[in-house]
Amino acid sequence: MPDANPIISISDAEIYRGQNCVFKNFSLAIDAGVDTAIVGPNGAGKTTLLKLFARELYPSRGDVSIFGESHWNIWELRKKFGVVSTDLQQNFRPHTPGRSVVLSGFFSSLNTFGHQTFSDDQIQIAEKVSSDLGIQDFVDTPFFEMSTGEQRRHLLARSLVHDPSVLVLDEPTNGLDLQAQFQFFETASRLIDSGKTIVLVTHHLHEIPQEVSRLVLLKRGSILVDGPKEEVLTSKNLSELYEVPVRVSVSGGYFHATPGQ
Ligand SMILES: Nc1ncnc2c1ncn2[C@@H]1O[C@H](COP(=O)(O)OP(=O)(O)OP(=O)(O)O)[C@@H](O)[C@H]1O
Ligand SMILES: [Mg+2]
Repeated sequence: MPDANPIISISDAEIYRGQNCVFKNFSLAIDAGVDTAIVGPNGAGKTTLLKLFARELYPSRGDVSIFGESHWNIWELRKKFGVVSTDLQQNFRPHTPGRSVVLSGFFSSLNTFGHQTFSDDQIQIAEKVSSDLGIQDFVDTPFFEMSTGEQRRHLLARSLVHDPSVLVLDEPTNGLDLQAQFQFFETASRLIDSGKTIVLVTHHLHEIPQEVSRLVLLKRGSILVDGPKEEVLTSKNLSELYEVPVRVSVSGGYFHATPGQ
């Protein structure tokens, strides 16, 4: 049977970052509606993999098709994805006020510019998303004057304005306090419930929303294990992934990793 509805289908791809070949003969498909988490050590290739979704990177060999197509108008494609990552946060123009950070999502740009015009509808959507995420008081605050968590919420708001069907989250709660982490994942669960598909990279097992059903363990550019969350997140698999003894436990539907056998 053909794939139900692949968001991304990577076949036999070779992918470089600069001089480094991160993936060789790599294949992976992720279907719409299958919320997926990707876990693995530093340098495994997780961020590289996520950069294929919105065509920030291309394979040098093999094929990467997005929603069944290999060729895209990049701006059309980027409307389908909401991306939140530390990379994006570091590259954002520091003087951009909160309002513009959110509005820039309509153009997938890192600021708003004079030639970009926004309709009343777009402005209303940006205001609604901002108040849903509790950042409505930051409209005039420059990005560099916001805390990490405030910046992150703005990037999430920015990623949501064009109502993407897929959210690509690369360590989205990095640097957030507990309250902001919990809020972020409550928001993620709400978005999953509203029909969006989430592809999440995280180092923290407890952050994997309960709705996530598929787990991919990535190690040095290869898939170590891929399958249903409960089967993949075992002490044995995590110990092999990180090459240290890891004990995995579950409480209240959330997974936890602690040192030990
Ligand atoms: N701009 C770059 N130029 C050259 N090599 C790079 C570049 N960015 C990443 N790499 C290399 O590519 C490999 C994969 O990096 P990637 O950022 O995808 O890892 P990651 O799994 O996201 O790690 P982390 O958990 O630390 O975020 C690493 O070996 C890294 O050193
Ligand atoms: Mg990374």
